[in-house]
Amino acid sequence: MRVLIVKNYSEVSIEAAKIVRDIVKKKPNCVLGLATGSTPLGLYKELIRMHKEKGLDFSQVRTFNLDEYYGLSSSHPQSYRFFMEENLFKGINIKPENTRVPDGSVKIEEVEQYCKEYEELIKQAGGIDLQVLGIGGDGHIAFNEPGSSLGSRTRLVALDEKTIEDNSRFFDRVEDVPRFALSMGVGTILEAREILFLATGEKKAEIVAKALEGPITSMITASALQLHPRVTAILDEEASDALRRVAFYRFAADSEKHVGIKLF
Ligand code: PGA
Repeated sequence: MRVLIVKNYSEVSIEAAKIVRDIVKKKPNCVLGLATGSTPLGLYKELIRMHKEKGLDFSQVRTFNLDEYYGLSSSHPQSYRFFMEENLFKGINIKPENTRVPDGSVKIEEVEQYCKEYEELIKQAGGIDLQVLGIGGDGHIAFNEPGSSLGSRTRLVALDEKTIEDNSRFFDRVEDVPRFALSMGVGTILEAREILFLATGEKKAEIVAKALEGPITSMITASALQLHPRVTAILDEEASDALRRVAFYRFAADSEKHVGIKLF
């Protein structure tokens, strides 16, 4: 795994945006896997800037989002579809029909079939070229809460108490936070060709260290990223604070500048 440690949130966002930009330039019709939450907001702002000021072209790019609250329609201000429209899609020239976010309003009896179709759509698009990920306070990637199978696929999941509490900051009352979600599985995520893992802030330091340097366990689903051959983790100094091998990561990152290739 490449672990890049930079100063702060703003630098994480800029470095992450460069990785997305490089893929979009190299493969204009690439498939991006996208995440919501506070972490990727700066990345999305930077991509919008690159589009507006540098002409970065998203006209052929296709996207799949990781997850969506179950029970919220796409027009709900806390839905992840709404988040993506507000924070990225309306600022770039992506075609609406090329953007996919799971539909949290599908009927319960249709959920299983819907999730199968979501996986099928990813396959038909040729698979995800680059998946953007954050990490939850409980170590989740997407909504793969502790105990999710590391082979899991897109499905309906129950949310952990910790996630409900963390996400209640966006809702008026904690009781308003949905209890369920549709989420890509860990197995789905691991099939992406490349992964961009972002974490910032001191609150993430302990869980980041467990995920990147601890044992692989379904109790911290982000630890499954250790199985993937092409992960770049970009962390700010605060989020990297509990890692044991910071000196090594810095050495490897420095060395990349000399050898001119990425050292995964
Ligand atoms: P955050 O959420 O970016 O708002 O910290 C991350 C997550 O829950 O995956």
